[in-house]
Amino acid sequence: MEVIESRIDTKSEEYKKNEHHMMALVADLRQELERARTERSEKARARLKEQNKLSVRERIDHLLDRNTPFLEIAPLAARGLYDKKVHGAGIVSGIGIVEGHEVIIHANDSMIKGGTVYPMGVKKGLRTQTIAMENHLPIIYLVDSGGAYLPLQSEIFPDVDDGGRIFYNQAILSKMGIPQICGVMGLCTAGAAYIPAMSDEVVHVKGTGAIFLGGPPLVRAATGEEVTADELGGADVHCRESGVSDYFAEDDEHCIDIIRQIVKALPPSRKAEIPRREPRAPLYDQNEIYGIVPRNLSTPYDVREVIARMVDGSEFLEFKARYGPTLVCGWAYIHGYEVGILGNNGILFSDSSLKATQFIQLCDKRGIPLIFLQNINGYIIGKEYERGGITKDGHKMVNAVATATVPKFTVIIGASFGAGNYGMCGRGYSPRFLWMWPNAQIGVMGGEQAAQVMITVKNDQLARQGNPPLPEEMVEQIKAPIIASAEREGNAYYSTAQMWDDGILDPVKTRDVLGLAISAALNAPLRDDRYGYGTFRM
Ligand code: COA
Repeated sequence: MEVIESRIDTKSEEYKKNEHHMMALVADLRQELERARTERSEKARARLKEQNKLSVRERIDHLLDRNTPFLEIAPLAARGLYDKKVHGAGIVSGIGIVEGHEVIIHANDSMIKGGTVYPMGVKKGLRTQTIAMENHLPIIYLVDSGGAYLPLQSEIFPDVDDGGRIFYNQAILSKMGIPQICGVMGLCTAGAAYIPAMSDEVVHVKGTGAIFLGGPPLVRAATGEEVTADELGGADVHCRESGVSDYFAEDDEHCIDIIRQIVKALPPSRKAEIPRREPRAPLYDQNEIYGIVPRNLSTPYDVREVIARMVDGSEFLEFKARYGPTLVCGWAYIHGYEVGILGNNGILFSDSSLKATQFIQLCDKRGIPLIFLQNINGYIIGKEYERGGITKDGHKMVNAVATATVPKFTVIIGASFGAGNYGMCGRGYSPRFLWMWPNAQIGVMGGEQAAQVMITVKNDQLARQGNPPLPEEMVEQIKAPIIASAEREGNAYYSTAQMWDDGILDPVKTRDVLGLAISAALNAPLRDDRYGYGTFRM
């Protein structure tokens, strides 16, 4: 492999301006993450103290092995939704190391509306379970939840990807032999009672933990029976009488200690093997990514400059370097793991699509994980290209991306528009993980383009009716809201609030996050060879 030769001038005006711009975006990101972690009402803090509970972050800190990383999933889910304070959708989820085992944690934050589950909370729970299934990670639920957030019950209850699916998934995880351990550290009411019930092992905290299908108020209303939460579903009831829970814990710390012992006793995971070598830092300073990425998404730049600051020793074996130059493909190592990287260097043409298809097949056959660095405005359009078969060549790439079964990881480092999102392994193509950089934009097309399409459609309609085209002031009136909504909804924060991604990353952290994610992914078999590929249109 050769070292990528960088052509960046770190003293140039352009570099400095880019750096300033990206650093401001990263500072905003840090602030948003901090707010999501810490903004809680005084009332909620006081209630937690009164109940002698640990906060959700303290529980997770206690659970994880000392000085090990925690790869948090969707920390800004539900940002700006509801009352704008349901941080992280009321759940902390992420991959960490417990007693040397990689696990995924799903923990309710009882300081946000009693840990109740909002629609985005259901989505986050399902995403956490999907990660557990795809990567064969044991899952630890720390439940402390008033169940469904009742004012929005119709949005969380009945559909295929609503609340019921959480328990369905628990049954499937159980069938797959993926361990599920539940700490009952607060209420598990109604639907939430099924989380411990469907888990393999349940640790129940005395005094604060309770499991019941109907809480005391409901029992009183339905039967007239007066009963306390502890009498109805406390640790003693479920550890001694009903057998719903398996381990009795004196308090939160004790509960976490028991969970650690359970994880310690799990058999070791037999990780999939991929080519590896001794990890090495990139040769170039990773911080230079800030100055490399242009302020404007439409300004072209060489994605190799980013790759050079992400891969071990900045070494890259480029595949078909002279063919289909708008897509850069090649092999490299990240934290010692061999990967195949695809990075956009412009619009996708037939040649770049065919190159991608071949490269993806090679990586898939060899069992090498794929990394997509997505910065794409779409596939080329126009008469010449349609005649040249761009649609069938684009199809081959989309087909290969969809059917390759090695772990895939996507980072949207710039634009993510149109079918380019599909070909470069957008969320619909099941990458194991997908992140965005804070400068990224996503949508069917850019706002200006979408607005222009709508004006053309309208003018064509008017022409058919024998009328003149729209006057200039009407054009602006029609265009403005389309551009505004595309900008708002195409923003990385909008995407992450909706959980179209697993989080927004500081570009400089991308290499480390990829290293952790690749390691987690290797807990599952590398490939699924049952079906092979679909039919490629020739
Ligand atoms: N839906 C919507 N909001 C709920 C809620 C629910 N299921 N359960 C609690 N909340 C809200 C409360 O209204 C309160 O809001 P506020 O801070 O704006 O006043 C906040 O969550 C905290 O509740 P509170 O009762 O003050 O805190 P707590 O720590 O004493 O108790 C619970 C928390 C969850 C144990 C308790 O509120 C409870 O039992 N809730 C009802 C549970 C239930 O029956 N759920 C059925 C769902 S299917």
